[in-house]
Amino acid sequence: MDLIKKNTVVFISGRGSNLLNLIKFSKKKNSPISINLVLSDNPKANGLNYAKKYNIEYKIVNYKNKKEFEKKVKDYLIKKNICFICLAGFMRVLSENFIKFFKNKIINIHPSLLPKYKGLNTHERVLKNKEKFSGCTVHYVTKKLDSGKIILQSKTKITRGETIHSLAKKVRKLEHIIYPKSIDKIFKKNN
Ligand code: GRF
Repeated sequence: MDLIKKNTVVFISGRGSNLLNLIKFSKKKNSPISINLVLSDNPKANGLNYAKKYNIEYKIVNYKNKKEFEKKVKDYLIKKNICFICLAGFMRVLSENFIKFFKNKIINIHPSLLPKYKGLNTHERVLKNKEKFSGCTVHYVTKKLDSGKIILQSKTKITRGETIHSLAKKVRKLEHIIYPKSIDKIFKKNN
């Protein structure tokens, strides 16, 4: 019997390397998700090119006003029957109401070993504090920033002479492994 894939949207704001990786993952026969929509709050996001390349519908919503933004997005996701939301480099903080409406249906990837280094500029802060390890975390999105239940983490050693750029590159490689794995973990558990 064919697996019924969950209708999924990926929210982006920029480069979109995780989006591309998730698109590839979603195309696999046994993937629990299909990516039906890419949503960007930035009309210039590079990730939109991946949506175009793979013929995935994309929508740009860039209202500055949070209420307006979320109303438009929510109505559109309902219209499109979306039941799962992956944040991938999405730079806005969602409101409690929005998160409540899609309770346990929104996940995010963050470039640090949470609960350490929530928020922005993680690699810079990690290096400044002379940490020995860093990594990335996939977690549920809750009203407190970068604080929801952790689904998976991956760790990497910080080597001598590590730079923000080299660390970001190493961490991104790990992100591309654990984001799909986390999605598998969620849906295998629920099926
Ligand atoms: C990633 O490092 C992710 O952890 C963070 O934003 C970055 C997005 O990169 N939330 P990309 O746009 O997926 O390449």
